[in-house]
Amino acid sequence: MKFKTTPYHYDLLKDEERLAVFYEAIKDFAVANDCTNSTLFDVGCGSGILSFFSKDYFKEILAIEIDPKVANYTRDNLKEFKNIEVINDDATTFDFPKKADLILCEMLDTALIDEEQVPALLQCRKYLNENGRIIPQSIINTAELVEMPRENIHYDDVVSNTKYDVLSDSIVYDKIDFLSDFDEVFDDVLSFKINKDGNLNGIKLTTYTILSKDIICGPTPMLNPPLLIPIKSKNVKCNDLINLRLNYHMGQGIQTIKVSYR
Ligand SMILES: C[S@@+](CC[C@H](N)C(=O)[O-])C[C@H]1O[C@@H](n2cnc3c(N)ncnc32)[C@H](O)[C@@H]1O
Repeated sequence: MKFKTTPYHYDLLKDEERLAVFYEAIKDFAVANDCTNSTLFDVGCGSGILSFFSKDYFKEILAIEIDPKVANYTRDNLKEFKNIEVINDDATTFDFPKKADLILCEMLDTALIDEEQVPALLQCRKYLNENGRIIPQSIINTAELVEMPRENIHYDDVVSNTKYDVLSDSIVYDKIDFLSDFDEVFDDVLSFKINKDGNLNGIKLTTYTILSKDIICGPTPMLNPPLLIPIKSKNVKCNDLINLRLNYHMGQGIQTIKVSYR
């Protein structure tokens, strides 16, 4: 199957690891639950690849995409599959005509900080049937302190190819379950133990995506590349304890990030 789409969505299609974990999670869900009478929402469907993966399992798929150009391509890509309807609308305001048994909502951005789909998911969750599920189920965020060469905030992706030294243990600082209520503002003091002498000048955030009880995915080229955030530099020694206050607003962008020593 060939997909015509935008360059960004084409890059997403080239990320085979990302596609593989979503394919497995959808298939596992559909095999474990008889979905032949079920409704699926593909929220922010982009190229439509996740609807394509789901088409043989679900009675009906509502795939919603806010970008008209992307939605037009996707409608055309998927037109032969009569159980998929591609809707060009904003998922934060769209009045769905029915409820869903499963929602697919791909959260690509590290710690959800620059993730525009946060408000879309929170709204679409209201249309989930009582025992309905969401893929991915949850995320786990971890943090480490680093010495890094660059002084600007950036993603550790294939383009930046950043080299940095990790100076502390990695800590799990947040877990978000997409079926539960969560505060979109993260604000907490994180405590790190230094395990290597160096010039501390950054904090690295990494997100792990839990797609189902058996599938967890670390960063891939397009899914949650780690985020490197500069902080005031400080010489540190092995076994030092460092406390940092980390604050950001999920869905509102990396400009909301604030980090300070405590
Ligand atoms: C990560 S991308 C696409 C992921 C998609 N699963 C794929 O494989 O192509 C997220 C998509 O959500 C769309 N989007 C963002 N906010 C939206 C909203 N409020 N309503 C509908 N679509 C939205 C974006 O235009 C983008 O195409």
